[in-house]
Amino acid sequence: MLRFLTAGESHGRALVVIVEGLPAGLEVTVEQIGDELARRRLGYGRGPRQRFEVDELTLIGGVRHGRTLGSPLAIEIANSEWKRSDKWHAEMSPEPGHTESPLTAPRPGHADLAGMQKYGFSDARDVLERASARETAARVAAGAVAKLLLGHLGVEILSHVVRLGAAAVTPDGARPMPDQIERVDESPVRCFDSSAEAAMLAEVKAAAADGDSLGGIVEVLAYGLPVGLGSHVHWDRKLDGLLAQAVMSIQAVKGVEIGSALDVAGRRGSDAHDPIRWDEGANRYRRTSDLAGGTEGGISTGELLVVRAAMKPLATLNRPTLETVDTVTKESTVSFKERTDVTAVPAMGVVAETMVALVLAREAQRKFGGDTVNEFVANAAAFAATLPDPATAPSS
Ligand SMILES: Cc1cc2nc3c(=O)[nH]c(=O)nc-3n(C[C@H](O)[C@H](O)[C@H](O)COP(=O)(O)O)c2cc1C
Repeated sequence: MLRFLTAGESHGRALVVIVEGLPAGLEVTVEQIGDELARRRLGYGRGPRQRFEVDELTLIGGVRHGRTLGSPLAIEIANSEWKRSDKWHAEMSPEPGHTESPLTAPRPGHADLAGMQKYGFSDARDVLERASARETAARVAAGAVAKLLLGHLGVEILSHVVRLGAAAVTPDGARPMPDQIERVDESPVRCFDSSAEAAMLAEVKAAAADGDSLGGIVEVLAYGLPVGLGSHVHWDRKLDGLLAQAVMSIQAVKGVEIGSALDVAGRRGSDAHDPIRWDEGANRYRRTSDLAGGTEGGISTGELLVVRAAMKPLATLNRPTLETVDTVTKESTVSFKERTDVTAVPAMGVVAETMVALVLAREAQRKFGGDTVNEFVANAAAFAATLPDPATAPSS
């Protein structure tokens, strides 16, 4: 089954990701992965690093002549900043030595102080280099491949920003369809609703002028998901739980909502659940609303999957106003300024798509198996053929 591991530091030589468990015969190109990485750099309110950081990709193993071999896929993303600057060669050198400029004023809201205490470091850089969201580039590379695999089942995943600071889309606003993803990506804040987009841009401009930062909420949508991913039988196999963990693992994401959970919590039961109907034309069951967000009992229902991720405002500010302590002198000071974005909510949406794709691809493999893409697809089709009415499906 699909699993992945990333390695590498923010200003180190490169990031590396190994994706294990892919079936053989999946068509993968460097360009497809590169396109997804370019989407991660999108968004108004991002700092200069996104403009000059080019993701130089190398497929190191697992792909031959454009197709996966069934062996681990290894991808390297070189760090162009490391290549260009002697500063990072020295700062990030793996050779024995030490830095001339340790960071000793940990930033509140970052991993700095807790990480220094836990691992016994006196330089916050020993923590922040790995805690940094540059690591998400490696995740997005893995997610690009997961999306390609899911594409064989007709699953399409996209995201859009529904809140940026105080500006938000209306609760019943339209959702983008898969063929509208380019329109979302063309929006400087990756917002589908053009009236909310203007308010979001104004929020970013105002925060930038104050040297401040903004958080927000993105909504990830998975169209075409088959019935039956995840399970009700164990706590750690529930699809909603798996999605929540994966999306919550994204740097600065502090809340995950499946469907309309927060709204539904305030309703009466009679108004809180999706009615089930038999759709004669489609020969399938349908829910007439999507409050549950595409899962019931931890199992995908075949309806639209809706996952929202809430991101806190970035903790590194361009105006250094967060109070902290110098870990050497123990005197009060302000946290150090590392180059930073005003907001990374639009980019976080692409990372959230990635994490959803990786969970769905793994659960689809758990359900359908297969050493080749063809076997995986055939197994999914065979299962779908049993679906119209489970009562009449063969029991073995
Ligand atoms: C795409 C993305 C970009 C980010 N960029 C920044 C940034 O420029 N400055 C910053 O202070 N935090 C940034 N963060 C958030 C930090 O990485 C995160 O807050 C930090 O690692 C601590 O983790 P925690 O907030 O999950 O506790 C970003 C997060 C994401 C997902």
